[in-house]
Amino acid sequence: MPKKIIIDTDPGQDDAVAILLALASPEDVEVLGVVAVAGNVPLPLTERNARIVCELAGRTDTPVYAGCDKPMIRPLVTAEHVHGKTGLDGPQLPDPTMPLQAQGGVDFIIETLRREPPGTVTLCPLGPLTNIATAFTEAPDIVGRVAGIVLMGGAYFEVGNITPAAEFNIYVDPEAADIVMKSGCNITILPLDATHKALTTRARVDAFRAMGTEVGRMVAEWTDFFERFDKEKYGSEGAPLHDPCVIAWLIRPDLFSGRHVNVEIETVSDLTRGMTVADWWGVTDRPKNATFIGDVDADGFFALLTERLARY
Ligand code: BDR
Ligand code: CA
Repeated sequence: MPKKIIIDTDPGQDDAVAILLALASPEDVEVLGVVAVAGNVPLPLTERNARIVCELAGRTDTPVYAGCDKPMIRPLVTAEHVHGKTGLDGPQLPDPTMPLQAQGGVDFIIETLRREPPGTVTLCPLGPLTNIATAFTEAPDIVGRVAGIVLMGGAYFEVGNITPAAEFNIYVDPEAADIVMKSGCNITILPLDATHKALTTRARVDAFRAMGTEVGRMVAEWTDFFERFDKEKYGSEGAPLHDPCVIAWLIRPDLFSGRHVNVEIETVSDLTRGMTVADWWGVTDRPKNATFIGDVDADGFFALLTERLARY
């Protein structure tokens, strides 16, 4: 039975690849909807990009919603320096023709969790946690109905990418992340510690291009664009495909390893705001609230991604 999921996202090239991976994997995941959030770029662009990606996948039947346009209490911080002005810079993209749903994204999350049997819907946040935390705050009754939350965010050994201490998704809305971490849900975190090992290489990007399809070409051009930033910054061979790790974990959890630990979010300090303080070494007795992934079989991950994207 495929897992029912809601993808909560701020596309973003790596978000786009995650959506494509999910929509190509109907035997593993059933995408109930895609909800956009402000993050890498402002909401009007992330919801637009989500529709472009669903159309590229040939899946105009996937409902796309717009969620929150700014973090819970802070001004929005964006990442055009990584993703470009549109969030999906790289290839020339068509305008989307499929409509945005009239219902708000937060209402969709609430309504879906109330409608579906308890414990059957998994939330997959690929951006700041604003929509999820807002839904939990507005409708606390849904929290106990969530099957699990599998999210990309945070870091422990890698520490930060947007500041020396914080990873982007958590940094943008630390109050939202704090609410989610304290929700009591079954949480799995794909932090930079894992995603920085899921690096594109020339051979891996060439494999996308060699598919000879529209999707293969787009994914190759997106990764080509997205790579330049990380290559320059880290001196790495390619760029991390952060967000597809969330979907890959749902399909092949055996490709990943981690520890069930306590994870808390710094919300107060100006210096370390958004830091994910993971008790990896078990040096406190704070309650364990998340599985924090530390490693990924990168070859296995790219083999899975390439096999699934080749279905388009
Ligand atoms: C995360 O931030 C965004 O730039 C990416 O899409 C990913 O979700 C990595 O820190
Ligand atoms: Ca993202």
